[in-house]
Amino acid sequence: MSQQALHNAKEMVAREKLEFGIDETAPRWWYENNPYKSRLIDAIQAAFPDGERYFISSVRPFRDQITDPVLKEEVKTFIRQEGQHGIVHSRYNQLLRDRGLDVDAITGFIKWIDSFHTKNFSKEYNLALTCAFEHFTAMLAETFFEKKETMAGADPNFRAMLAWHAVEEMEHKAVAYDVMQKVAKVGYFKRNAAMVHVILFLTYLSLRFTNTLLKGDGFSFGQRMWMTVKCQWWLYGPKGIISSRFGSLFSYFKPGFHPWQQAAIHNYDAWLQTYERTGDPIAAGDALYRAAY
Ligand SMILES: [Fe+2]
Ligand SMILES: [Fe+2]
Repeated sequence: MSQQALHNAKEMVAREKLEFGIDETAPRWWYENNPYKSRLIDAIQAAFPDGERYFISSVRPFRDQITDPVLKEEVKTFIRQEGQHGIVHSRYNQLLRDRGLDVDAITGFIKWIDSFHTKNFSKEYNLALTCAFEHFTAMLAETFFEKKETMAGADPNFRAMLAWHAVEEMEHKAVAYDVMQKVAKVGYFKRNAAMVHVILFLTYLSLRFTNTLLKGDGFSFGQRMWMTVKCQWWLYGPKGIISSRFGSLFSYFKPGFHPWQQAAIHNYDAWLQTYERTGDPIAAGDALYRAAY
């Protein structure tokens, strides 16, 4: 699917009441049975429900000023999609909580920092922070689903949940950005200052809260530090899941950047067609995974 075809409000669908069959039978460490890798992604996803409420609340103050009917419609779908993501990730958070993990340390911190940002920064800067976060979530699809080997050792149900979220993030990746540029008129410096802010924030969040969750799993301080060191290669080595995205990530700093300059992942159609045919997000997640390189 071309970027142009993807950039069509009709393609942005808020899919609701999805079931991923993730319950108490789910593996504790769903990613390659690796505690560090599983908990790193768990820590980031634990921040989604409150984070996504913040994204919605930072777009809302500009809604009345939007005159373009297409953008108005896109904002509506963006809000519905983010709302659904929040519901599904809250359910997964409850499972982590039931397993004795301190998820509330993460959600409490996110609530606090969101209200700090809202109170202390302008609504334009808050929207710029949202756009920077949205650039990261837009990269979820390429990070986890472009190459088959990345998700080969993942639990299929969790993989499907992440696939659905990644697909919808790709679909609405330009919505907040268009509001920022066309309505809030945020300039180059503020947009990029917000991105630096978000890079530092996500680094801090992931290091601190992966450690919190691993503590809940019963690992000692020494074991947690060793796992952290060992997994840096997976993150930042030559084929690291983060380092191999540096090109996409840093393109945000280019003057004239727009999210639609980056194409959708090649296997997006496989997810879309399977979901349209079956209405089953687990089958769609499986199709996305199988169609990866
Ligand atoms: Fe989302
Ligand atoms: Fe999003």
